[in-house]
Amino acid sequence: MPVPTDRIETDFGFRRVPLEQKQALVDDVFHSVARRYDLMNDLMSGGLHRAWKDALISRLRPPKSGRAFELLDLAGGTGDVAFRALDAGGTGLRVTVADVNGDMLAVGRERAEGRPWADRIEFVEANAEALPFADRRFDAVTIAFGIRNVPRIQAALGEIFRALKTGGHFLCLEFSAVDIPGLDALYDLYSFRLIPEIGRIVADDAEAYRYLVESIRRFPAPEDFAAMMRMAGFARVQWTAMAGGIVALHGGWRL
Ligand SMILES: C[S@@+](CC[C@H](N)C(=O)[O-])C[C@H]1O[C@@H](n2cnc3c(N)ncnc32)[C@H](O)[C@@H]1O
Repeated sequence: MPVPTDRIETDFGFRRVPLEQKQALVDDVFHSVARRYDLMNDLMSGGLHRAWKDALISRLRPPKSGRAFELLDLAGGTGDVAFRALDAGGTGLRVTVADVNGDMLAVGRERAEGRPWADRIEFVEANAEALPFADRRFDAVTIAFGIRNVPRIQAALGEIFRALKTGGHFLCLEFSAVDIPGLDALYDLYSFRLIPEIGRIVADDAEAYRYLVESIRRFPAPEDFAAMMRMAGFARVQWTAMAGGIVALHGGWRL
């Protein structure tokens, strides 16, 4: 007999919570940090998140010509990845930033105003588990530091696959497992002691940042996430560890 959905539990950081409640808890975190989110990213990563996102854009290689290319940046928040893609790509590139959180998107909309590509970016409130887009619409889908927040990751991977054209590319940047002895202890100390403290001082919310670091530890190992991508239908699935395993860039194709 199937387990009633209100009895299924999942991780919210290190806590176990009913699956049905996770999204609301995640939404509270991002409502709370939206206005300070970009500043916090720089402070917490020492600016490294910029290099990781640039690596994602290099792998994506948006066409520099006027050739039409539709990108979906999912869980796109304040638009950081989308802006980098638009800076790198040509005039045929159009980007849809989709996120479940209207406050994160509102910051993104403000930041996009007046940019040279402002008429080629769209912000859409949408849940990764049920995308409001037609089948095979996008040439590529990116998601950066977003997938671990989604309660039903497998459902989201299925939706990403559905929304991609045949030949479409999926790239996912996510925190991973540090595998360098010595660095792991240092990273633990930094994550569990310093990040919540920085969150308290800068964003007035230590708990939100405690969730963010805890959720990193609960995210599947890269080989397990690769298996989930294959299960969703992706081919040529691979990943590249960066910064000693602090993050991994996962990729796959709809063929
Ligand atoms: C850590 S932020 C990443 C934002 C952006 N991609 C970046 O790298 O700066 C995670 C984002 O995931 C979004 N998110 C969480 N659950 C989601 C869901 N089910 N569907 C779409 N977006 C979701 C949050 O609202 C938040 O904006």
